[in-house]
Amino acid sequence: MNGGMASSLIDGRWDYGTSDAAIFASIAAGIPADGMPGFGAVMTAAEIDALVHLMRQAERE
Ligand code: HEM
Repeated sequence: MNGGMASSLIDGRWDYGTSDAAIFASIAAGIPADGMPGFGAVMTAAEIDALVHLMRQAERE
């Protein structure tokens, strides 16, 4: 999860909102201005929730 063209998702820095809800929204809707595609059409809400939890856990380790 080190980012490639985007920034790391586990460095504790969030440019688009720190809350679980904001991170959920970044994944579901994407970030059109930065070229990130949205995944809301291909992932269920439960899957996105699980991903948010995974990133939260990884940033604490
Ligand atoms: C399941 C796959 C992905 C997940 C979970 C994911 C998640 C995220 C999240 C949570 C953010 C916001 C970060 C913040 O608030 O700082 C973000 C930003 C971004 N993502 Fe993704 N992303 C994914 C796939 C992609 C793909 C495929 C691309 C490009 C083709 C991409 C490009 C970007 C860019 C350019 C940003 C904004 C710049 C940045 O935060 O550094 N992402 N992504």
